[in-house]
Amino acid sequence: MAAFDTGPSAETRARLTLAHRPRRNRKSDWARRLVRETRLSVDDLIWPVFLVEGVGRRDAVASMPGVFRYSLDRAVEAIEEAASLGVPAVALFPNTDTALRDERGSAAFDPENLVCRACRALKSAVPHIGVITDVALDPYTSHGHDGVLIGDEIVNDESVAALVAQALNQARAGADVIAPSDMMDGRIGAIRAALDAEGLDAVQIMSYAAKYASSFYGPFREAVGSDKTLRGDKRTYQMDPANSDEALREVALDLEQGADMVMVKPGLPYLDIVRRVVETFHAPTFAYQVSGEYAMIEAAAANGWLDGERAMMESLVAFKRAGAAGVLTYFAPRAAAALRRG
Ligand code: PBG
Repeated sequence: MAAFDTGPSAETRARLTLAHRPRRNRKSDWARRLVRETRLSVDDLIWPVFLVEGVGRRDAVASMPGVFRYSLDRAVEAIEEAASLGVPAVALFPNTDTALRDERGSAAFDPENLVCRACRALKSAVPHIGVITDVALDPYTSHGHDGVLIGDEIVNDESVAALVAQALNQARAGADVIAPSDMMDGRIGAIRAALDAEGLDAVQIMSYAAKYASSFYGPFREAVGSDKTLRGDKRTYQMDPANSDEALREVALDLEQGADMVMVKPGLPYLDIVRRVVETFHAPTFAYQVSGEYAMIEAAAANGWLDGERAMMESLVAFKRAGAAGVLTYFAPRAAAALRRG
């Protein structure tokens, strides 16, 4: 127990006799650096990039200040810059022309679609950055769902067949990592088998293994233009935010079926899931700091309600502390620049 010593030798200050004073390790910058447990590095960052048709375009996304939709020429420039900052990989998301969206998401299978052209352009212009492509039909369907809609049902097995075709289309165009974000049952195994059958066994799979039916995807849907088209919601395939054990079962299935990396999404509100997945499976586990999380920080910063730069870095280090191998974040280039400045 601590005892008071109010004697004259303690001057006028009361002194506690404490065996442990944890503040000692925080008293200076050098000491804090010395005992720091986790570190964010540029190697932890994956940058999600929105694409749009055209030339010379860099269109603002209203609900995501500082985030743009790039035409291919501008995307290549922006991604070259990110690569030069050391960002290891980008994840591509197309805003498909409305005229090209249909009931079955046909444009997803077109070898000349925006994402395939981007893969080819990036593989030749920025060969040292990893290219991750999203497998889900929502940027291509008139109803905004990730799978095949029959009546009012997203039908699983027909969806998996379509997603396999989409994944092959992307892998043939040079995608390094296929990232299925659709949450259909059995898609990882089906995609793995199809890739292997074509000799594309070097293509990695990063599965959105535990993806929740979240309100935090709002700004993303604006960015890819599915906000106005989405019919209903995604709760018959994305997970219930109240569930945690179910996330472990989903991750187990995806790893069994051949996922090389798994992902938890959204990010900050789901760090408990990240931690459980890491401790249970010891597999490379990523978190997606989604559009709504980005928008929250930016909106508060724009109002002067918090220091945006510090909130950005604090949120990113939190993913590392939870055990994530890396983070998909719209902050990637800014965080990379901040890390470089030190
Ligand atoms: C689509 C997809 C979504 C996101 C990534 N891929 C949205 C959704 O499921 O509706 C969300 C990313 C974000 O909000 O930043 N399959």
